[in-house]
Amino acid sequence: MYEKIQETAAWLKARINTRPDTAIILGTGLGRLADEIEIAQSISYSEIPNFPQSTVEGHSGKLLLGKLGGKDILAMQGRFHYYEGYSMKEVTFPVRVMYELGIKTLFVSNAGGGTNASFNVGDIMIITDHINLFPEHPLRGKNFPTGPRFPDMSEAYNKQLIALADEIAQEKGIKVQHGVYLGTQGPTFETPSEYRMFARMGADSVGMSTVPEVIVANHCGIKCFGISIITDLGVEGRIVEVSHEEVQRAANEVQPKMAEIMREMIRRS
Ligand code: HPA
Repeated sequence: MYEKIQETAAWLKARINTRPDTAIILGTGLGRLADEIEIAQSISYSEIPNFPQSTVEGHSGKLLLGKLGGKDILAMQGRFHYYEGYSMKEVTFPVRVMYELGIKTLFVSNAGGGTNASFNVGDIMIITDHINLFPEHPLRGKNFPTGPRFPDMSEAYNKQLIALADEIAQEKGIKVQHGVYLGTQGPTFETPSEYRMFARMGADSVGMSTVPEVIVANHCGIKCFGISIITDLGVEGRIVEVSHEEVQRAANEVQPKMAEIMREMIRRS
C-alpha cells in the first residue's frame, strides 16, 4: 500500500502546477464551495493511478486544484465511504496521498443526525472531537512511517482552527453549535434506540464518514477541522423518517453559510 501511495503522489506531483498545503474534502453540504474555487486543474479520480472510484449519488469524483480565499488548495470532490464496500485503507488512501503532496491542514464536512436535544435541522456543528465506532480501524496492520504505532488523539480537531471558526462565525452572525461526532458504518440510518444509545455515549451528531480520514490525517501530523451539518434529528419525540434526498436537501440549504466560514478560515489560516 505504501508503494501505491508513493506512486500516486509521484504521478500527481508531475501534473500539479501548485504546491498547496491546505486540502478540503467536500462532503455533503460543501458542494457549493467547489463553485467558489478558482479551479486551475481538475483531475478525475478515474485518471489517477490506484485511486478508488466514487459510487454514491451526489458525490462526483474529482480532485480540484485552484485558489480559495486567496490560497492554493486541493479539494476532493467526492469521498469514499466504508459502506460502499471499500476497505479502511482505501477510504483513507487520499489522505495518505495528501500527506505525500505536502498538505498540512485538512478541512472536512459531513451530514449528520443530531442526537443533542438542543439542536435543530440545519444547524452547523463544529466538530470538537469524535467517537470511532467503525468496525475496522484505518491504522490496523503494519504501521506507516508517517506516525507512531500508538498515535495520540487528545486533539484530533485542532483547537486553534475551532477558535478561528468561532471568531468568523460570530463576525458574520452565523450561529454555530459545538459537538462530538460519532462515526458509524451505515448504510442504515439509526433506529430510535440506536440514536438514544449514541446520545448516551456522548455523541451530538452521528454520521457515516470523516472519522477514518481524520484518524489518518492525525497519524500524518495534518491538522484537522470538521463541520457536521445537522440534516435530521435523532432526538426522542422528534424523530421522523429520513432519506438520502432529505439529508441532501437539508445540507444544501446551509451550504452558503458553511462555504463562507470555510473560505474565510482558509484565507486567515
Ligand atoms: N445517521 C447517520 N448518518 C447520517 C444521518 C443520520 O441520522 N444523517 C446524515 N447522515
